[in-house]
Amino acid sequence: MKATAFVICGLLLSEALAVSLYNGTPVNKERVSYFRQVTRVSSQATKVGVDLCPTCIDFTGQAIDTLLNIILQSGVVGTCGALCNALAQKTGSQALGAVCNILCDVVGVEEFVKLVQEADLDPIYLCELLKVCPIKDDGDAHITSFSVDPKSGPQGAFTLDLEFESKNGTGTGELILECETVDHLPVQGGFIAEMQPAGNYSKQFNLKAEPDPDCDPTQGPCEQWLPGNYTVKIFVCNGECGSKHPHSQVYDSAQTTFTITE
Ligand SMILES: *[C@@H]1O[C@H](CO)[C@@H](O)[C@H](O)[C@H]1NC(C)=O
Ligand SMILES: *[C@@H]1O[C@H](CO)[C@@H](O)[C@H](O)[C@H]1NC(C)=O
Ligand SMILES: *[C@@H]1O[C@H](CO)[C@@H](O)[C@H](O)[C@H]1NC(C)=O
Repeated sequence: MKATAFVICGLLLSEALAVSLYNGTPVNKERVSYFRQVTRVSSQATKVGVDLCPTCIDFTGQAIDTLLNIILQSGVVGTCGALCNALAQKTGSQALGAVCNILCDVVGVEEFVKLVQEADLDPIYLCELLKVCPIKDDGDAHITSFSVDPKSGPQGAFTLDLEFESKNGTGTGELILECETVDHLPVQGGFIAEMQPAGNYSKQFNLKAEPDPDCDPTQGPCEQWLPGNYTVKIFVCNGECGSKHPHSQVYDSAQTTFTITE
């Protein structure tokens, strides 16, 4: 799962998975991802080099609670190497350890430890405090259309289409999708949204509305996608959706419905 997230992050650069609605508790890791963002080739995708901002958010989403535990348990952490080694061991991920070293070296271990505590488990906020992600507080977004295709059909793929206008650009944030299901199990997806200039934007997502064969029922109930009506909500946010930290705001939200037939 962690390796997958890094591969996705490396491939899509600006559009990584694995963020979720901030609620002040450790980042909620989804067991099954039903939502996928359909990437389109745009001028943004031709940027040269790896952008550290989405990598940082993706890393922080996976590592910040473990990192905080290491800091709280060990009291004084001497070097970036020691801290990030401990992270790599606890998570069993060399990749997380490596990104940890890169980010920690940006500000030095003392400042890094201070900022991880200050960020209070909010990944985007931490990456802004580290000055790896740009801050823009006078941005805006207004959803002009949010629709689903097909409106009605059997279990399978549904395509969600989002269009929004930003008159003054958007800050580093995220898009959150939430599906209200017939069996009331939560289905949620989060996507990093990098800072963008003013313009009209269009994004597409796939919702795989069918039981996932990889869902492990011993870990809790698995979504069945029963016949009935489903409501999908979308939130376009500066920072983490729902965060009380600075540089955070829900720009706009919308919803649409579809029906799964027998
Ligand atoms: C729009 O963004 C620019 C640059 O980020 C800023 O200087 C300006 O004050 C913003 N305008 C509004 C109306 O917020
Ligand atoms: C978005 O598109 C509308 C309609 O084409 C246009 O009037 C508007 O100026 C565009 N907005 C921006 C910020 O480019
Ligand atoms: C689902 O939505 C359709 C169309 O809005 C409505 O006619 C139907 O009664 C709804 N079904 C349920 C089970 O709520």
